[in-house]
Amino acid sequence: MRERIVTPDKYSEEDERQIVSLRPEKIDEYIGQGKIVKKLKVSINASLQRKEPHEHMLLYGPPGLGKTTLAHILAREMGTRIIVSSGPSLQRTGDLMGILTNLEDGDILLIDEVHRLAPSVEEFIYPAMEDFKVDFVVDKGAFARVINVPLKKFTLVGATTRAGLLTAPLRDRFGIVHHVDFYPFEELADIVRRSAGILDVKIDEEAASVIAQRSRGTPRVANRLLRRVRDYCQVNGIERIDKQSVLDSLKMEGIDSAGLDDLDRRLLTTMVDYYKGGPVGIESIAATLNEEVDTLVEMMEPFLLKIGFIKRTRRGRIVGDAALKHLNLPRIKGSQQELL
Ligand code: ADE
Repeated sequence: MRERIVTPDKYSEEDERQIVSLRPEKIDEYIGQGKIVKKLKVSINASLQRKEPHEHMLLYGPPGLGKTTLAHILAREMGTRIIVSSGPSLQRTGDLMGILTNLEDGDILLIDEVHRLAPSVEEFIYPAMEDFKVDFVVDKGAFARVINVPLKKFTLVGATTRAGLLTAPLRDRFGIVHHVDFYPFEELADIVRRSAGILDVKIDEEAASVIAQRSRGTPRVANRLLRRVRDYCQVNGIERIDKQSVLDSLKMEGIDSAGLDDLDRRLLTTMVDYYKGGPVGIESIAATLNEEVDTLVEMMEPFLLKIGFIKRTRRGRIVGDAALKHLNLPRIKGSQQELL
């Protein structure tokens, strides 16, 4: 995967460090996701009043929208530690055993990409979530015994971009489930202004709006674009980020008015040029673009679907009218769009 400035995932350690430095730490600093924040405040306060750990919580939705941030905020507000792990790194029960037995009462265990836990690890986690114990098998064959290990009362926070890939038994063990969705422009503009304050740069209202409009509904992208615009203004001796600087610097980065980059545009034109606008299977698109299917499905498609640039049908993906308009392309004769 090449580095894309508009990718919603973290593309390097430095990128991650920058993301963390702009992350809100307290719930009152968090902008957007109003419904989640409201419900989270209630569940946090209720748990604190009862002096109990918070219920297990599942956060699902596209990458870059604040799932990890919300888990950190939960820990901060509950006054507990947070231990971070991920589905792909927990492939053997022993990996998880080590983490679980070291947890203290109330600790938050965040498992990112929780849909990627190995099946054996997933089964191991059920009694941990339900009864705060694990059943550990020692020895083999005739000597095999199950040892019951009690655990401290922890809170599991599962985060996933692919809720559809979670098994029903795992999903059912989360007492609280929140769906994080793309942010509206106004909230992204607020985030851009907040981040500019932290970075100690001045920014016009209009400039913040243009960055917001090109951020694909994603705070992580908004903050990354802001960093690039800030650099551009700094080297050009522009003291206050204005609209023109945003337009000039993002043009240089190849990001258009809808926040699409070269790869997005290639995806859409490939669908038009090679597949008459679809329907086409995601595997075919991935092969033509020389990209991985998972990258397209997890990192690119959610936003393009959200803005109607592509549509999912039973027979495959089709290009939406909005995309043709955006790219200045005519409607395709004899295509699926003609029939819609
Ligand atoms: N930075 C990244 N996401 C944010 C959010 N939701 N609120 C405030 N600042 C952020």
